[in-house]
Amino acid sequence: MKINQLFFYIFLGLILGCGNEKKEPKKFTYQRTQSPDQVVSKEINETPVDLNNKGIGPIKKVVFTEKTDPVLVENGKSIFNSKCTACHNINRRLIGPPMKGIYDKRSPEWVMNIILNPDEMLKKDPIAVALLKEYNNIMMLNQNITEDQARALAEYFRTL
Ligand code: HEC
Repeated sequence: MKINQLFFYIFLGLILGCGNEKKEPKKFTYQRTQSPDQVVSKEINETPVDLNNKGIGPIKKVVFTEKTDPVLVENGKSIFNSKCTACHNINRRLIGPPMKGIYDKRSPEWVMNIILNPDEMLKKDPIAVALLKEYNNIMMLNQNITEDQARALAEYFRTL
C-alpha cells in the first residue's frame, strides 16, 4: 500500500515536473472590465485635437476675415443642406460628427481638406484615422465638392 502510494507520488511528480519543464506560455483569458459604452467613450477621448494640423489635400492656407461673409455663408448653408445632412446634423452626432464648434477642434484647412479629400485623409491623417474609429468605420464620402464650395461650407461652419 505504502509503496503504491510512493509510486503514485513519483508518477504525479513526473507529470507535474514535465509540465513545468515545457514552460508553455500561459494563456490568459481576456476579461472585459468595461462595458461597450465605456470603450466607445474611451475612443472618443482619444481622437486628438490639434489646431496646427492642416490635413492632407489641396488646401494649404485659409484666412478668415474678421466678419463672416453673408453670401458665402448662405451658399455654404444650402450646399450643406443638400449634400451633407444625410450624415451630419449641426448640433448633434448623427452618422458623422456635429459641425457646431468645429474650429475649436480643427483648423479651417483641415476641415476643407477632409471635405475635398476624405479618402486619403481617412487613411493617413492621425485625427481622421481616430475619427473614423470613433464613428464605427463609416467613411465620410467624397461628395465631389469644388474648392469654392468647400470654402463656402467652411464659412458657414463659422456661424454655427
Ligand atoms: C455618408 C455619410 C457622410 C456624408 C454624406 C458626409 N459626411 Fe462628413 N463625415 C462622415 C463621417 C462618418 C465622419 C467622421 C469620420 C469618418 O468616420 O469617416 C465625417 C467627418 C466630417 C468632418 C470632420 C468632423 C470633425 O469633427 O472633425 C467634416 C468637417 C465633415 N465630415 C464635413 C462634411 C461635409 C461638409 C459634407 C457634405 C459636403 C459631408 N461631411 C458629407 C460622414 C459623412
